[in-house]
Amino acid sequence: MLDGKTIIVTGAASGIGAATAALVASRGAHVISVDITTPTHPVGRFVRADLSDPESIDELVSGLPGDIDGLANIAGLPPTKSPEQVIKVNLIGLKYLTQSLIPKLADNASVVNLASLAGLGWPDSKEVIDASASLDFDEVEDFCRVHGIEGARSYFFSKEALIVWTMQNRWTWRSRGIRMNSVSPGPVDTPILKDFIETLGARAEEDMRTMDRAGRPSDIAPVVAFLLSDEAAWIRGTNIPTDGGMYSDVLCRTNHF
Ligand code: NAI
Repeated sequence: MLDGKTIIVTGAASGIGAATAALVASRGAHVISVDITTPTHPVGRFVRADLSDPESIDELVSGLPGDIDGLANIAGLPPTKSPEQVIKVNLIGLKYLTQSLIPKLADNASVVNLASLAGLGWPDSKEVIDASASLDFDEVEDFCRVHGIEGARSYFFSKEALIVWTMQNRWTWRSRGIRMNSVSPGPVDTPILKDFIETLGARAEEDMRTMDRAGRPSDIAPVVAFLLSDEAAWIRGTNIPTDGGMYSDVLCRTNHF
């Protein structure tokens, strides 16, 4: 399914990124793993990069080959980190890496962004998302202050803006067949699950009670792998909730179905 494709996986040292790197490798891809942390079980070639730092991203991109068939943007920080760092890694660095890599992507390449169920409130955030459209790394601190983005809001905002950016770019690279989609997991049992529960408290616990179990990295990786494959060629600019039914549950309850 991914035979011979060259796929970049960010966040490959842990959780969903690690599971995705292993899965796409098992499906025949040449994996280039990127993370700030060195993986304990490296998959493919590993390149260390700090995705909150444009110079580190420039260095990463200049060392990558051409003709890349897929980019899985999975690295992310939980809401326990500072709002500036969360927005830099989850949104600004992700966008900068993707845009910098476009010239090195092969025609018909696929980009997959790890968003979150936390981002599904995007329709209510239009003004702030618009204001972040061309936000640069060194403007993030001021942006957070001006728009009152504090604490866990940084995480929600980063994922809302990421879902919208994915939709906005549905046809940006259409002439080259390059497409981009996002995947939005519900709570997944990885090292950052405890950070969500710690930050969101009662709300996270209540969400978890509606589930039969938390997600596993192995629930998410196959969805990313499918979107990276040519079989998903007609899926473009969309967001795929992968959450054991949580999003539908919220929608049905909110709309009284
Ligand atoms: P994780 O903490 O297991 O993995 C995240 C990886 O990102 C780590 O290997 C970390 O070193 C890397 N990373 C963090 N900052 C970085 C930086 N500055 N530069 C390069 N790499 C960096 O977390 P998990 O759960 O696997 O999360 C993966 C993605 O899935 C994230 O974007 C997260 O927001 C998203 N997600 C996770 C959910 C969960 O419940 N675990 C739910 C919904 C979305």
